This record gives sequence, structure tokens and C-alpha cells, in this order.
Amino acid sequence: MTFVRNAWYVAGWAHDLTDAPLAETILSENVVLWRGEDGKPRAAENVCPHRFLPLSQGRVRGNDLQCGYHGLTFDGGGVCVDAPTQDAPPTNCQIRSYPVHENMGMIWIWVGDPALADTADIYDLPEYHQDGWGVGFGDALDVDANYLLLCDNLCDPTHVNYVHPSTLGNPEGINAPVTFDDKPWGVLTERFTLNSAPTGFVDAFGSYEGRVDMWQRYLMYTPSVSIIDFGATATGTGSFEGGGEGRIQVYSCHFMTPITETRTIDRWLHVRNFLAGDASVGDGISDQFRNAFAEDKIILQAVQGEEDRHAGRTKIGLDLDASAGLFRLKVNRLLRTEAPGQAAE
Ligand code: FES
Ligand SMILES: [Fe+2]
Repeated sequence: MTFVRNAWYVAGWAHDLTDAPLAETILSENVVLWRGEDGKPRAAENVCPHRFLPLSQGRVRGNDLQCGYHGLTFDGGGVCVDAPTQDAPPTNCQIRSYPVHENMGMIWIWVGDPALADTADIYDLPEYHQDGWGVGFGDALDVDANYLLLCDNLCDPTHVNYVHPSTLGNPEGINAPVTFDDKPWGVLTERFTLNSAPTGFVDAFGSYEGRVDMWQRYLMYTPSVSIIDFGATATGTGSFEGGGEGRIQVYSCHFMTPITETRTIDRWLHVRNFLAGDASVGDGISDQFRNAFAEDKIILQAVQGEEDRHAGRTKIGLDLDASAGLFRLKVNRLLRTEAPGQAAE
């Protein structure tokens, strides 16, 4: 088992959660989500304790969820509040409920110990909420691979030259140094490519005449939120640290939800500091990202397939693995805390 349970995960896009129940699988658990008439999200295990019909086949009644078979009705705490065919529900009529919270256009869920759930721990990008920054929502990328393979990829700026040559890659940056840092929240991996020809992305969205200084900062939060802060300034006008004038900056945000051990949904969005009000710019960025992430998906699914075929075979290491290795170590520490002796390799 490689799942950290005591963490907030994204269960779905907020705009998809309506008064129709929504079935999702999260950490191999089947969950039903719904939005009550008060607008608040709710979640419970997706099974009626009577004849085991999935509650997602029922309907929302006020703030509660009614089973589609015989009408047992549950509140957001999983308590049966109505059994239409009898005077009162059986005393043991209760299902598991989950803490949920809405932020950044997403519904977050906690499948671990409810006593440890604190909404203050939910990831938040301040710029998402700020004037001058434009938000573009992407897709729910469905990848047949363990979430840690996605995390490896998102700790690794070096792969872009090989996997994304036309968009994010930069032939001049192939040997640009990569550094990384152990953070309380995860691992920060950085690469600066100074005095370079612009990447395809920078060329498309920046208006630089000549060469540029570019940065990639990969913030990988345990267990599975990745924020990639990247951008460019005209060469010599001020590096990222200096907050250079005329920079273009994008936060590419990935919220990865383990569905099973070999399937992950990566819901992504992006936040930019230019042309914030122009939705077509957001769509253009999404188009580039969509192409790039489809390239990652092909690689990661192929790797998962070979991992399955070569179970137990040791991989060789490269210097570029260091930050991903540190990230996995940190996830393993969390796993050991939750289930001593059960941490993954
Ligand atoms: S199966 Fe849900 S009420 Fe009977
Ligand atoms: Fe990639």
C-alpha cells in the first residue's frame, strides 16, 4: 500500500458537484459526493447499508441523500434520518461520512482519521485568489500509473527536453544545473536556464525580442500536490529572485488523487500573471499543457506496465533522481507513521 491516508485529496471539480450525486473512487474507496440545497459539499461511503445499492444511484433531498431503492435517507454525517417504510430507522443504520471542503474550484476530501482532519492543511495558492492573476482550469487527466510515478515526474525538470521538446523543452537547457532542497512540506527542485533562446511556451506567450532568463521551480508537496512555478524575463533584466520587470510567470498546478495502486487522476489548472482577463490566453496555455501532459501520460503508463512485468527488479539510479528519491523517502516516512511496518519500497 502506498497511500497516505491522513491527507486532503481532490475528489472532483467544484463545478461538477451539483444536486446530482457523484460517484468517485479515492484511495480504492468508493465514495459518493453531493451538494445540499445549502450549497455545501458532503461525502459518504457509496453503499446503502440496506441492500447495498450504491447511493450514487439515489437522489439529493434537501441537504440529504436518499437511496434509490427503498428511500433510506442519510445526512452529511452518514446518519440515517428517514426510513420511509417504517416508523423509525434501525438504530444501527449509519454509513461512513468523510470531511469535505471546497477551495480553488475543487472539492477536497479526507479519507483518513476524521479526528485529524483540519481544513487549514488544505493546499492553497494565494495568487489563485488575487487580482492581476488569471486562472485557467484544465482537465482531469486519467493515468494508469501509481501516483508516485507522477510525483517522480513532477520532481524532475530534466525530462522536459526529451518528453516535451516542442513546448516546455529547451535544447540549450539540457545541461542546466538542477538543485533541490528538503522542505517541511515536501521537496523543492529548481533549475535556472539563463541567457537562452526561449522555449516554445515562452515564445508563444512572452513578447521577448531576444534571449531570456528562465526558471523552473518544482514544488512537490507530500503526498501528491505539485506546483510548478515557471517563467521568463528578458536576459539580464532581473532573474526570478529579483522579481524582474516584464516577467511572465505561470503556476502549473497538479492535484493528484490516487484512485487505485495503478491509477491516478491528475486534475490540473494554471494561474498566470499576464492577460489575466483574457480567457483565450488561459485556453491557449491549457492547449499547450494538454499536449505536454498527454506526452507524460504515455511515458508513465508505459513505465507502470514495465514495472508490473519486472516486479522486484532493481532500477539503476542517476544523479537526476535525487529529488524524487527524497520525496519518496518523505512519503515513506508518512506511511510508516500511519501504518508501522507497512511502508512501500
Ligand atoms: S437498498 Fe437502500 S433503502 Fe433499500
Ligand atoms: Fe512532463
